[in-house]
Amino acid sequence: MVLWKGRFSKELNHEVNAFNSSLSFDHRMYKQDIRGSLAHAKMLCKQSIIEEKDYEEIVEGLNAILKEIEEGTLLFDPEAEDIHMFVESELTKRYPVAGKKLHTGRSRNDQVALDLRLYAHDEILEIKKMLVNLIHTLTDLAEHNLDTIMPGYTHLQRAQPITFAHHLMAYASMFLRDIDRLEDVDKRLYVSPLGSGALATTTYPLDRLFVAEELGMYDIMYNSLDGVSDRDYAIELSSALATIMMHLSRFSEEVILWCSWEFKFIDLDDAYATGSSIMPQKKNPDIAELVRGKSARVIGDVNTLLTMMKGLPLAYNKDMQEDKEALFDAIDEVKLCLPVFTDMMATITVHKDKMRDAAARGFINATDCADYLTKKGMPFRDAYKITGELVRYCIEHGETLETLPLDVYTGYTDMFGEDVYQAISLETCLNNRAVVGGPSPKIEMENIHRINQKVSGY
Ligand code: ARG
Repeated sequence: MVLWKGRFSKELNHEVNAFNSSLSFDHRMYKQDIRGSLAHAKMLCKQSIIEEKDYEEIVEGLNAILKEIEEGTLLFDPEAEDIHMFVESELTKRYPVAGKKLHTGRSRNDQVALDLRLYAHDEILEIKKMLVNLIHTLTDLAEHNLDTIMPGYTHLQRAQPITFAHHLMAYASMFLRDIDRLEDVDKRLYVSPLGSGALATTTYPLDRLFVAEELGMYDIMYNSLDGVSDRDYAIELSSALATIMMHLSRFSEEVILWCSWEFKFIDLDDAYATGSSIMPQKKNPDIAELVRGKSARVIGDVNTLLTMMKGLPLAYNKDMQEDKEALFDAIDEVKLCLPVFTDMMATITVHKDKMRDAAARGFINATDCADYLTKKGMPFRDAYKITGELVRYCIEHGETLETLPLDVYTGYTDMFGEDVYQAISLETCLNNRAVVGGPSPKIEMENIHRINQKVSGY
């Protein structure tokens, strides 16, 4: 049933109707649409804009529609233009008088803006929980790997010793910021545009704050043109989601490297890897690769929204109907990736020996060797130069700094003593990095506690 056809003398062309309709993707907002309508109707009744009896029928009708959609007994009519029209016409079929009063003082323009905000808020809560689970998985894994020494890299070249825990906790910190970002977006997003009407409010004595309070929203929007035409929240949310995907993608890239024979720092559980149809030896990290691939889509979604909005005059334009698929896609992908990535990480096998082997080669204690001389009084630049020469000597003679005889050391400077071996042992290098934010096990444990405590507040 087309509810707006008074001005028109012809039925809408069938193809145009299909082209125009957003029901195929916005039907997922049915709960939010009904929640918004219930609050609106309650306010209309409180303000004596509709009668008590109409309000009761609206409540009864909308609750029944919600229940039937949920049970699968009420199917979405593909002819409907969108979820808002579908719910309203279904209500009007059941309660012809009351149903026709529901839209008093409201436009689909403020209605859709409200529904999408309600939907986004609900999804933010879900995604936050998923991030919390991922962080817990990482802090657990970190606790078991506080002294698992591995090389830290810059330029993907072995650089300085860290632990696997330190590497994992770097990602935990990123995901914690992602939660913060979602909460921040939510502050601006969870405000009510309802009452903005089509663009210029309405002449009815609406109580807009009452509706916002009824819905548990933080505030209302104070300019009606902005109320119906702002999609900043969709852009902000999608970019927060793209940032989550970017973090997951970087992490995936490392997982893929770590599983390779070249690294073999970890193995994936068989349940989280796939084989090849031709190469019997293969065990592929498909999940991590797909997560990395899907990040591209979500980054694309942010671009879709920005590009869709950038040329639109105020206020509502139909272009804005395109906001939903982009935002839904970003939300769906993040919700798909987070739990499977979390489970994959929870089931990895850590090859501590392989990490340690890699740490023992590559001269990652060279900085510590230079620091040793500096602490004995040599200016750092001189210490740096001597250590560089020692490294070259080791490479040429197939030695490491640990295996190099003391007389070779002292040939460069007599500041070297027997205690150099202790100073450059990987354990010393690690334990001495006890500055806040560093990888020493004691400092790491404090950080794990700090992050666990923060997360328990969510
Ligand atoms: N389906 C539309 C959307 O998603 C709802 C708003 C329609 N408003 C209008 N004036 N045609 O944006």
